[in-house]
Amino acid sequence: MNYDASDIIIFGGAGDLALRKLLPALYRIYSEDSFSADHSSVILTCRSDEEADGLKDEIKKNLKLNLASGEFSDTAWESFASNVHSVVLNIAEHDEQWSSLAGYLDEHPDRVRVFYLAIPPAIYGACCENLSKQNLITENTRLVVEKPIGYDSESAVSINNKMAEYFREDQLYRIDHYLGKETVQNLLALRFNNLLFEQLWDAKSIDHVQISISETVGLEKRASFYDGAGAMRDMVQNHLLQLLCLIAMEPPHKLNASSIRQEKLKVLQSLRPLVDEEVSSNTVRGQYVAGEVGGELKSGYLEELGKPSSTTETFVAIRAQIDNWRWSKVPFYLRTGKRMNERSAEIVVQFKDVSHRLYPSDAGALQANKLVIRLQPDESMQLVLMSKNLQKLETELQPVTLNLNFADASKEFRSDAYKRLLLDVVAGNPSLFIHRDEVEEAWNWCDPIIAAWKTSNRQPHLYRSGSWGPDGSDELLAERGHQWFNLAEIDKAIS
Ligand code: BG6
Repeated sequence: MNYDASDIIIFGGAGDLALRKLLPALYRIYSEDSFSADHSSVILTCRSDEEADGLKDEIKKNLKLNLASGEFSDTAWESFASNVHSVVLNIAEHDEQWSSLAGYLDEHPDRVRVFYLAIPPAIYGACCENLSKQNLITENTRLVVEKPIGYDSESAVSINNKMAEYFREDQLYRIDHYLGKETVQNLLALRFNNLLFEQLWDAKSIDHVQISISETVGLEKRASFYDGAGAMRDMVQNHLLQLLCLIAMEPPHKLNASSIRQEKLKVLQSLRPLVDEEVSSNTVRGQYVAGEVGGELKSGYLEELGKPSSTTETFVAIRAQIDNWRWSKVPFYLRTGKRMNERSAEIVVQFKDVSHRLYPSDAGALQANKLVIRLQPDESMQLVLMSKNLQKLETELQPVTLNLNFADASKEFRSDAYKRLLLDVVAGNPSLFIHRDEVEEAWNWCDPIIAAWKTSNRQPHLYRSGSWGPDGSDELLAERGHQWFNLAEIDKAIS
């Protein structure tokens, strides 16, 4: 598919996000000819001449590191690089430097203009104001902003208000890159195109749901951002709550941005608030100490941070409840952590037991059905069912797994969330972006939890790098007779 001619301007063009995610995505777009090389350019803002001078080498190095093996080619690089330009700019100050950016853009005033703010939210406002002062906001302009929007509900409202002074809501694209993952979009396709799930997707049939994103990485040169944010602001407020919305939302009446967003918003509004002592009984925070991850010894959080103390959480587990008819009394367990045992993102839907046990107990223990949707690292879906062991004459019941591995079905397909989302911005399709109401509502739920942690002034529970988090996280589930289904353990059980 070919897209309209566009200028993509990345503020923070030499930063980590641009180098690791955005430029590889743009390189893919150019190499696949989705953008005509003659009609689209990428403009990167830099903080100094030195940064700008070395930028192309840095981009090339990072493309080689971040693209899949065999994906980089010198010919494609030459063509891509000829469309990449840099300008030196102090984003927060409106001075004569802005005119060189204007110089590029004014050559093609009718092109789609995408301003991507890969910069700290504290300067979003100043950046928008300067774009406006320089008259760079055209009818065809879109503004893309990264999560987390703000630090809490109050700062999110103020950032959203500030952006709204210069841009209409339909020009604003708030990114949560999880929504760009094909497997995440598949959640809606699975839920709303299969009678099986349509009929069973509620408190009558579902016992509980687990949504878990575990990472093996630690701070990755983001110490100053991360220590001020923690896992709650970095992952729960956005990625985990968005996944929760997709699992729990009612069917939208149409497959368009506003219907989907309305249904997601209702889920966020129905989340039972956790306040004061409910926070300590329904949440667990952790911080990693040294340990082995994938056979390598890794330092603890404080050593990585280079500080003697910090109460920032690198792990969170939460028992959430959605107070509506569909989900009454069904616990939704959310979990995320850094330096964990495996990199994985998965959703486990645990169904209830059958209403009546017909087979005698010596036929074996019954396991309730379970749907496991893995979003990464491999993309698959498993349905655990009870069956007879066909090798035996006597009746022996055993769990068996229907296994659908999406990676097998589409070996050639390389999913890249940022590529998908950037193309949607250029095409003007906001379905996979977040409305300001969702951002603010998500903060409304997170704020009291963060506040209660702060007031209690308790240290997060320590957990060993390479583990599945602190013991308290297992205890949180055990209180209701549940347990986490960890990727590695499920694999063992299935094989
Ligand atoms: C980002 C967080 O939004 O998502 C990072 O800021 C995290 O801390 C990353 O590592 C995880 O994304 P993915 O796609 O690798 O699961």
